[in-house]
Amino acid sequence: MEKIYGNHYYRLLAFKESLENEITRLEQTLEAFYQTNMIDHIMGRLKSEESVLEKCRKKNLEATPDVIVSSIHDIVGIRIVCTFVDDIFKVRDAIREFNGITVIEEKDYVANAKPNGYRSYHMIVQNTEGYYAEIQIRTISMDTWAALEHDIKYKKDINVNKELITAELKRCADELASTDISMQTIRNMIYGQM
Ligand code: GTP
Ligand code: MG
Repeated sequence: MEKIYGNHYYRLLAFKESLENEITRLEQTLEAFYQTNMIDHIMGRLKSEESVLEKCRKKNLEATPDVIVSSIHDIVGIRIVCTFVDDIFKVRDAIREFNGITVIEEKDYVANAKPNGYRSYHMIVQNTEGYYAEIQIRTISMDTWAALEHDIKYKKDINVNKELITAELKRCADELASTDISMQTIRNMIYGQM
C-alpha cells in the first residue's frame, strides 16, 4: 500500500483520517440536535494496490504515484451509512459546508438509481493539498444491497441463473427503497418532520 502511493501515502492517510474525524463530529452534532440516531457507521479506506493497478489498466494510466493521486479520485474512500433516507441529504448538506474541502462532483443515485438498482449519494471532494476523496452516503438497506450485488458481480463463476439473479436483485433494490421511504414516514410520525 505504501509502495504504490510513494511519498503521498502519509498525506493520503491523514486526509482519510481527517474526513473520518470530521464526519464523526458531524454525527455527534446531528444526533445531539435531533435526539435520534442518524449515522449507523462510517468506514474509510485507501484503495488497495490491487484495485489501483486494475483501474490503471482500465484507464490506461501509468502506475506512478503522481499519476495515480491526480487521476484516480477514489483513492481515499469514505462510506457513511445512515439510518434513514432523509439523513443522507442532511449529511450531504453538512459536507458541502466542511472547511478545507471543495466539492468537485456529486452523483445522486438515490433519486436516480442505476438500472441495476444501485442507490447511493456520491460526492467527489478535493482538499487544499489537491488530494481527492470519494464519499458515498447511503442507508443501511442500500449498503446491504450494494454489498450483496458487489459479491455477486465479482463471483465470476456464476453463469447459471444470471438473468434471474439480476432481476431478483433489481426487485430487492426497489422493495428496499420502498421500505426505506415507509420507515422514514414512520419516523416522521414519531418525531415530526426533521
Ligand atoms: P468508477 O469508480 O471508475 O466506477 O467511476 P464511476 O464514474 O463509474 O463512479 P460511480 O460514482 O458510478 O461509482 C463509484 C463507486 O460507487 C464504485 O467504485 C463502487 O464502489 C460504487 N458503485 C457504483 N455503482 C455500483 C453498483 O452498481 N454496484 C455496487 N455494488 N457498487 C457500485
Ligand atoms: Mg463505476
